[in-house]
Amino acid sequence: MKPYRFLLSALLLLSSLANAQSKLIAFTPGTIWPDNNGLHINAHGGGMLYKNGTYYWFGEHKIAGDAGNRAMVGVHCYSSKDLYNWKDEGIALAVSPDSTNDIAKGCILERPKVIYNPKTKKYVMWFHLELRGQGYKAARAGVATADKVSGPYTFIKSYRPNAGFMPLYPEGTPDNEKVNCTHPTNESEGFFCRDLPGGQMARDMNVFVDDDGKAYHIFSAEENYTLDIAELNDNYTGHTGKFARVYAGHQTEAPAIFKHKGIYYMIGSGTTGWAPNPARWFTAKSIYGPWTYHGNPCIGKGSEITFGGQSTYVLPVTGKKDAFIFMADKWTPKDAIDGRYLWLPVTFKGDDIEISWMDKWDLSVFKK
Ligand code: DGJ
Repeated sequence: MKPYRFLLSALLLLSSLANAQSKLIAFTPGTIWPDNNGLHINAHGGGMLYKNGTYYWFGEHKIAGDAGNRAMVGVHCYSSKDLYNWKDEGIALAVSPDSTNDIAKGCILERPKVIYNPKTKKYVMWFHLELRGQGYKAARAGVATADKVSGPYTFIKSYRPNAGFMPLYPEGTPDNEKVNCTHPTNESEGFFCRDLPGGQMARDMNVFVDDDGKAYHIFSAEENYTLDIAELNDNYTGHTGKFARVYAGHQTEAPAIFKHKGIYYMIGSGTTGWAPNPARWFTAKSIYGPWTYHGNPCIGKGSEITFGGQSTYVLPVTGKKDAFIFMADKWTPKDAIDGRYLWLPVTFKGDDIEISWMDKWDLSVFKK
C-alpha cells in the first residue's frame, strides 16, 4: 500500500473510532453539545416533534457574533432516536435571498415549532417573524409547510392573528380581565384594542396539539403584556378567531405547554431581553383557562434566573410515564451561535412541578 493511502486509512479509522467513543449517554446542561459531525448543535429557541420512533429538533440557526441573532440561514433540523445523540438533517426552512420576501435573509425568525397534520399529511412549522430592518416592530406569526419532516419547508404567509376577534372568557374569568374597547382600563387592554382591527401582535410562541387533534398557537401579544392561546384551523395553517388571553398584563414570554393527567401545564418566563429571569408556571383544566399562576417551578441555587436559561419547550418522553423534559436556552447574545441548551427533568409532586439543576443526568431518572 502506498504510504499516503496507508495514512488516509489510518486517519479514517481513527476518526471513526473517535466518533464511536463520543456516543453520548447523558445530558450535560450548559455544555457544548456536539452533533454527529462534532459541531455544537445549532437549533436555538427550539421545539421537538416525535414521529415514527425518531425525535426531530427544530431551532434557530444562529451565526457567530452579535448580529448572529438575525436569520441569515434559516431553521435547522436534527434527528435522534435516544435524545442524547443528534444527526444534522440540514436546513429545514431557508431564508429568502429576495429582500422583499417576508422571510428575507436578515429578518428575525425565532422559536420555530413543527407539528404534523394527519388529515393533510403535511408538516406545519410556525415561528415568530420580524421583518428585515424593522427590529421587533412587526410581531407576526409565520407559517410554512413540508411533505417531509426535515423539509424543505415552503413559506406560506406571515400575519398578526385574530384580526377583529374578541377573546373568549372561560367560566371563572374575573370581570376585571374582560376587555372593553370603549373604555380600556389598563395598558395591555389598550394594546389589545389598538391591535383589534389589524390582528394581535405575535412574538415568543409555541404550538400544542391536544389529545383530540386540535392545535393551538400560544404567543406573547399586546407588546408582550399578555399571552394569547389561539385555536388553529383544521389544516393547522391559520387561526380560527377563537382565543383566550392568559395572565393579562403580566408580561410572559417563552411559553411551553404540556398536558399531564388531564391538566394543562404551561411554563414561561418574564421579559428581560436575552437576560435570564425567574421562570413561571401555570395550570388549567381547560386549554383556554382560566389559568392559575403558581410562581417559579425552579428550586435551589440559580433558580431565581432559571439556571441562566429561558424556556423553549417541554418534551413528553415517549414510552415513559410521567416523563417530561424542560428545555431552555442559555442565550449568548454577543456570540449567538455559542448559545447553550439546558435540558432538565420535570419532577411531579402530586400535581405540582419542580425543576432542579443537574450537572449530568440521563433518562433513567424517569421511573418507567
Ligand atoms: C426574549 C425572547 O424570548 C427571545 O426569543 C428573543 O426574542 C429575545 N427576547 C430578544 O431580546
